[in-house]
Amino acid sequence: MSTAELTAQGAELPPDLVQTFIDMAHHEHHARGASIEALRLVQERFGWISDAHLAHTARILGMSQADLDGIATYFNLLFRKPVGKKVIMLCDSVSCYIMGQEQTRERLCKKLGVKVGETTPDGEFTLLPIVCLGHCDHAPAMLIGKDLYGPVRPEDIDAIIDEAREKTQ
Ligand code: FES
Repeated sequence: MSTAELTAQGAELPPDLVQTFIDMAHHEHHARGASIEALRLVQERFGWISDAHLAHTARILGMSQADLDGIATYFNLLFRKPVGKKVIMLCDSVSCYIMGQEQTRERLCKKLGVKVGETTPDGEFTLLPIVCLGHCDHAPAMLIGKDLYGPVRPEDIDAIIDEAREKTQ
């Protein structure tokens, strides 16, 4: 199928991304080998992966939507729902839990005015749980965008969030 046909069929992904995905798929033994990078590029462009974008990407890669959705939902850093401009990932695995994640989470929720899984009303932050960030020796650990923090004590939260709010990622 041509780029024009694939673009017209979905009308969701812009032509440059469609062409990129076709090129990526041609370089893989199986087109699905390009799936994670394609999803990452969709998210980079739109902030998250909508059903329409997922369906269009699946068509280009010759995969079923269910297969591609299985990959998208497996990875914690691929978002299938809209998120804020910055995503805060707070580790809820065992080392962080033992080292006081609960108190850090409570302070974080209070500062942001949201529960875990929610986005602040101004659309700036989404707070999500995540499994071990590999920063256990600095537990409790937290990721904001690409910045890793730890150990994050409740009293550190105000400064970290205020600084993150100023930053453009
Ligand atoms: S358990 Fe939290 S970073 Fe490993």
